[in-house]
Amino acid sequence: MEDVGVLLVAYGSRACAIAEALKRSEEYNVHLFIADRQRNPFNMKIAEKHAVIPDLSVEKICEFAEKHRNDIDFGICCPEKPIIEGIRDEIEARVGIKMICPTKEYALEASKIRQRMLIEAVCKDANPEFRVFRREDYRSSGGRLDFDALKRDLFAALDDFNDEVAVKPDRPAAGKGVGVWGDHFSSREELWEHFISIFKGGSDVVVEEKLLGEESSFQAFCDGSRIVPLPETRDYKRAFDGDLGENTGGMGSYKDKGEILPFMRKSDREAEERIVERIFKKLKGDGRNEGLIGMPFYVAFMHTADGAKILEINSRPGDPEIQNIMPILRDDFVEVCFRMLEGTLKRLECDEKATVVTYAVPLTYGGYRKKFSGSKRVDLSEAYKLREKYGDALRIYPGSLELREDGNTYALSSRTVCAVGIADSLEDARKISLDAIRSIDGPLWNRWDIASPHHIQKSIQRMKELRSKSDK
Ligand code: AMP
Ligand code: GLY
Repeated sequence: MEDVGVLLVAYGSRACAIAEALKRSEEYNVHLFIADRQRNPFNMKIAEKHAVIPDLSVEKICEFAEKHRNDIDFGICCPEKPIIEGIRDEIEARVGIKMICPTKEYALEASKIRQRMLIEAVCKDANPEFRVFRREDYRSSGGRLDFDALKRDLFAALDDFNDEVAVKPDRPAAGKGVGVWGDHFSSREELWEHFISIFKGGSDVVVEEKLLGEESSFQAFCDGSRIVPLPETRDYKRAFDGDLGENTGGMGSYKDKGEILPFMRKSDREAEERIVERIFKKLKGDGRNEGLIGMPFYVAFMHTADGAKILEINSRPGDPEIQNIMPILRDDFVEVCFRMLEGTLKRLECDEKATVVTYAVPLTYGGYRKKFSGSKRVDLSEAYKLREKYGDALRIYPGSLELREDGNTYALSSRTVCAVGIADSLEDARKISLDAIRSIDGPLWNRWDIASPHHIQKSIQRMKELRSKSDK
């Protein structure tokens, strides 16, 4: 077997799923060089070399790559921050290692305003109505922000939208900066407070029409010449059961046996593919655009009475959504990476399985508890024991979990660990995932309704109602 060295820039459980898929290769003997935010126990075990870079600074990742340059064939970056800061450009120019992620120029995730403008230019119908509020437009000659003018313009926009809006920072905030009328605020003053906290925080703001419908996540790998879609997944963004509470990074996700979700029609998926293809063509131009290698289009869609609309475009794999896919990817992922780099990417195959990801998170995550001052020790051993019962139908991927000197693992502040259940039906996959989650010993909590029959039925019913409105 040929030796291959891979630099993996990691953040959370997502990287574990990717690391595992690389190591599964039957054609290559894979050596992983992992740049991580903390001593993630999974990554420490699987890596040949593991570096802790808490802020994932591009400079420090470059130094780590430089040190092992002779043993590394290519790199993959999962988290958005280094991608947006131009890790691909820096490592390729300074270290000479090819990276799988978009260049800084094509990291669309950096700006929601840029995304809305781009969509407006190529497939307007996939945009909600929106208004842009730029800080520079409200700066008086003395450099201070003119809050009176800002409030006047914002409230005029709210008149147009009948208050039914989503308020979003231009810059990414891991889904957490978004506020939605009726969910996160129910008066203009509350909305203003949210708006102004984003504005004062240094970001421009997008105010857009509140969309009603069901969400899905579209992910596709890209070699610069073509995009190759992966099966559709559904993320659970809200903190609490029943989709209540604040937006989080994602509390869990599911994938059905086939390519689409139970509430989708084949034509919904085709519409998504058409929309993404148009955006891709616009950025690619004629020929190949190597700046788009990686996953430049992980797109959150809302399926509405008026067709599929884009909520946002991300420039990297989804977390938890890629954990639904990597364990069942049939293709050799190292080969897939080489193909992305060479521009010869082909259609990808997954096992015909349903997969359910449930996250266990710290007590204070998502606003579940205001405070927790006890020990944050987490023991995954009972959950891992279930692998004897379930085999590969269960995967456990630690995220924001740290292995310390005392040999124990401790939860940090973000999502701690996810369990992926894999089965012939969503119900069985969910059972496996929850069985593992229940076996974790530690001060964590989780949503219980990820892929629950009740939640899925509600999605199906809601889409039926929306479609019947639009069919009339
Ligand atoms: P985003 O970071 O833009 O994906 O937004 C995070 C979450 O906020 C989404 O998953 C939706 O649940 C919600 N959201 C964002 N934009 C809208 C919108 N225009 N209408 C309704 N909900 C939205
Ligand atoms: N699942 C949300 C994200 O990865 O941004």
